[in-house]
Amino acid sequence: MNKIVIAIDGFSSTGKSTIAKQLAKTLNYIYVDTGAMYRAVTYFALENKLIGEDFFKEDELIERLGEIAITFKFNEAAGFAEVYLNGKNIEADIRTLKVSKFVSPVATLSEVRRKLVEQQQLMGKDKGIVMDGRDIATVVFPDAELKIFMTASAETRAKRRYKELLDRGHQLSYDEVLENVTTRDRIDSTREESPLVKADNAIEIDNSNMTIDEQLQRLIVLAEELISK
Ligand code: DC
Repeated sequence: MNKIVIAIDGFSSTGKSTIAKQLAKTLNYIYVDTGAMYRAVTYFALENKLIGEDFFKEDELIERLGEIAITFKFNEAAGFAEVYLNGKNIEADIRTLKVSKFVSPVATLSEVRRKLVEQQQLMGKDKGIVMDGRDIATVVFPDAELKIFMTASAETRAKRRYKELLDRGHQLSYDEVLENVTTRDRIDSTREESPLVKADNAIEIDNSNMTIDEQLQRLIVLAEELISK
């Protein structure tokens, strides 16, 4: 049996992590949510007042990157690895609309990207990994055996995200969520450093009208074909 690297990229709120998590569980692979790592850096920046409504102390954030240690620890009850910043579990703190609002500018910084990409490559060096993000198939693992590019209409994605945030008890409007989704798409795909683009050899899956199970089955078939080679 071959161990492979599975890279899943796509726009925000396409349900990448839901699928990636379940795929990793089925294959008994490690799952890494790279968005959580960019969110962790953003959380650090917010906590330390390095970013806010009308300011962004980019140089200070870059200088202080050495103070940021991001780790993942498997939570048996949750069934996936949660993210920690300097030993503190911040899994819930990074899923707020506030962090979502500031994460794209933070993710444009090349120093931030370099640090996180290096850590991601290390995590996947022995393969047997499912990693999701924006630049996994293009930058982090350009030689990944399986590359998936997930898409869905902005409205479909905003609806899913809105429901998810309401379920978690957040108070906000659908329009705010749609605005966040479209703004992030624009920044993520037009930034200079590692923009979100579909890798040439990636398989595109538009999941607007697919159930989670349908998506999962499709990916399992694709992965198992490569694993059994
Ligand atoms: O997947 P997510 O929505 O949690 O990601 C949050 C942000 O992090 C996203 O808007 C862009 C950035 N990101 C990135 O630039 N590169 C990645 N590999 C993953 C996320």
